[in-house]
Amino acid sequence: MIIRRIDKHQPKAFEFSRANLIWAKKQISKYPKDREQSAVIPLLYRAQEQEGWISKPAIEFIAKMLKMAPIRVYEVASFYFMFHLSPVGKKAHIQVCGTTPCMLRGSEKLIEICKQRISKNQKEPCSKSNLSWEEVECIGACSNSPVIQIGSDYYEDLSEESFSNLLDDLIEGHPEPGSQKKRFSSEPEGFFNSSKVKIEENKNASVKLFLETSLRKKNKHVNVRKVK
Ligand code: FES
Repeated sequence: MIIRRIDKHQPKAFEFSRANLIWAKKQISKYPKDREQSAVIPLLYRAQEQEGWISKPAIEFIAKMLKMAPIRVYEVASFYFMFHLSPVGKKAHIQVCGTTPCMLRGSEKLIEICKQRISKNQKEPCSKSNLSWEEVECIGACSNSPVIQIGSDYYEDLSEESFSNLLDDLIEGHPEPGSQKKRFSSEPEGFFNSSKVKIEENKNASVKLFLETSLRKKNKHVNVRKVK
């Protein structure tokens, strides 16, 4: 078992941004009185989305909001691997699945690329690219292996080449997630071209959500092409 501890270097303070504070209060209001502590995971996750990692002041801030002892919040943050207890790459933190299906489909080569291009050590942000990486256990997308996760987005069906290109694109912006072989989801390759089955849209729900969110940020209307 890996011991997970909070980072030695801590910021002086933490507070939610105005929008995140409103969001956090709304989450807390979903739970019955005296059960507000159930909101601890969403609040921790939002703190991580805001800051990139979970600091001691963030733990204390959330504990105060939820009327919990800080140690109880720390127990949750240190138990789940999705929470980073040290700063990670500001541009992106890449979680490479190394479990058997992904390993059989080449995840070790992706890890090798991470070591060469980002850092020899896991969770050590690269000062040039602002990326960091770590190997994680199965992230539940085995049929599209090998897979990496960045935040809430999955990049699937990777090869050494497409992963290297992805790293280049990540440094420049936020590339489109989903199958890097252009599969819709986990159907056999070329299935929709060779069969009579037709789908309404050419992007699956998670890719669509990514496009909608990133386009909404730019204040533009998303137009997902229909496929007949
Ligand atoms: S083994 Fe990699 S997603 Fe399941």
